[in-house]
Amino acid sequence: MSKRKVVVIGAGPAGYVCGIRLAQLGQDVTVVEKQYWGGTCLNVGCIPSKALIAAGALIERIKHADAMGIQVSEPKLDVAKLVEWKEGIVTKLTGGVASLLKNYGAKTVLGTAKIVGKGKVEVTGEGGNQTLECDDIVIATGSEPINIPGFTCDEKDVWSSTGALKPTAIPAHLAVIGGGYIGLELGMMYAKLGSKVTVLEATSGLLPGQERDCVKVIERSAKKMGITVHTETFAKSYERKGQKLVMTIEKQGKKETFECDQILSTVGRRPYSKDLGLESVGLTPTKQGFLEVDKQLRTKVPGIYAVGDIAGQPMLAHKGSKEGLVCAAVIAGQKDEYDARCVPAVIFTAPEMASVGLTEDQVKEKGIEYKTGQFPFAASGRAMTLMETDGFVKIISDAKTDEVLGVHMVGPEVTELIAEAALAIELGATVEDIARTIHAHPTLPEAMMEAAEAVHGMVVHIYQKPKK
Ligand code: FAD
Ligand code: NAI
Repeated sequence: MSKRKVVVIGAGPAGYVCGIRLAQLGQDVTVVEKQYWGGTCLNVGCIPSKALIAAGALIERIKHADAMGIQVSEPKLDVAKLVEWKEGIVTKLTGGVASLLKNYGAKTVLGTAKIVGKGKVEVTGEGGNQTLECDDIVIATGSEPINIPGFTCDEKDVWSSTGALKPTAIPAHLAVIGGGYIGLELGMMYAKLGSKVTVLEATSGLLPGQERDCVKVIERSAKKMGITVHTETFAKSYERKGQKLVMTIEKQGKKETFECDQILSTVGRRPYSKDLGLESVGLTPTKQGFLEVDKQLRTKVPGIYAVGDIAGQPMLAHKGSKEGLVCAAVIAGQKDEYDARCVPAVIFTAPEMASVGLTEDQVKEKGIEYKTGQFPFAASGRAMTLMETDGFVKIISDAKTDEVLGVHMVGPEVTELIAEAALAIELGATVEDIARTIHAHPTLPEAMMEAAEAVHGMVVHIYQKPKK
């Protein structure tokens, strides 16, 4: 197959990974990025948020060091230095993306791309306008925060996640609209850095769609941290009164008001296809703004592909990167398809939560006969040495075939532990496979092995009534 000329629009984890792989596969690729190499993830998403969350976790550990006999004075936070440290990590990583693309031989253009016809992309950038001609276009433009009426993110009174990642001070009282991924990760981080935090969630519980047993642990932990959670609650409006913001909310049908110092709006993200010229090639997004793709990441228009957040849920960096790799292989003429058996999800709350595969509700809905097994971190020696014994590992399996259908974890380092579960599901492993695998002692992954034993009623390190 001859070399194909490809333009990738957007250099987030979907676009830049696709660009690198296309170059590795010998294609003639140009990656166009309008503002920052590495996209949302590296600049204003995954990486900066985890940096600040790590700082919150460290402060928390220092506060509890006394239990180990280590006496330290009350930690003091230099907010400017924290933000500078976080930005240093971002600069290192984003610079790495730009040089990786170049080193692999991908061309890079800093500018805003617009599709102006089949195989034609107009770029408006620093050096003026240019039109790139190509065989294929990969759309990887990502997503943007949703604004709800009355709460446009001006990054002053109302932060989006972007504003919350570059504070100049820690707000005394932070009101968070939305108890999903970002609301809880950043809400808990601010609580650790000293804010009083109030979370307003529209549905009846936090983290809708996640395994409810795990969410219960997060809800308990939020309460212990002093976070106030209002469920079935909508933020209606706010008003600035001197130094304070007065929020009006509707809780289970009743209007209430309260004062706060800062609002953070995190009610979800929508795919980004503004001014992209989709109409010039007859491409229409779905009602939610996604571009529909097949397993080869092809849109309905030949020669146009879509990857990452713009190509559908879940809006996660690793899902976008996987799609980018598959898309590059397909364009280069290889046989490949996006058919991940499961996409792991990791939530950096306190404690952390992670899951892969089906939840218990989903298994019930599908009418599958299933078994579960659970192992608490309270019985893990390693968790005790880390002083983090909240949570558990839960495995859901097919009662007939013993195949692992879903694994859900809440507790210490579970965002790392979930990789074993993802591999198990991807390989079609059985619960017995996990139970038979020797796990090193003393480590947190032993909880995975014990949860597998628990599915069969054979767990060793907690007492389980013999299964009949
Ligand atoms: P993006 O990363 O959004 O990249 C799209 C790029 O396209 C951008 O750089 C944009 O400037 C560019 N672009 C758009 N239009 C044009 C145009 N016309 N011309 C040129 N360039 C254009 N996911 C995880 O998996 N783990 C996490 O821990 C995590 N944490 C997050 C924390 C926060 C606060 C946020 C906001 C998100 C987080 N996410 C996380 C989600 C993750 O950031 C996204 O799923 C991921 O960035 C999507 O990748 P993408 O390449 O599709 O899009
Ligand atoms: P989200 O979809 O996770 O959560 C939004 C929450 O807001 C939901 O609980 C929803 O019920 C609630 N909500 C919606 N409208 C509301 C209203 N008017 N009033 C009150 N509550 C309302 O979206 P979020 O947190 O903005 O994150 C966007 C996406 O970014 C996530 O879905 C995820 O894909 C990604 N992300 C991933 C992370 C990770 O992997 N660790 C971390 C952060 C974000």
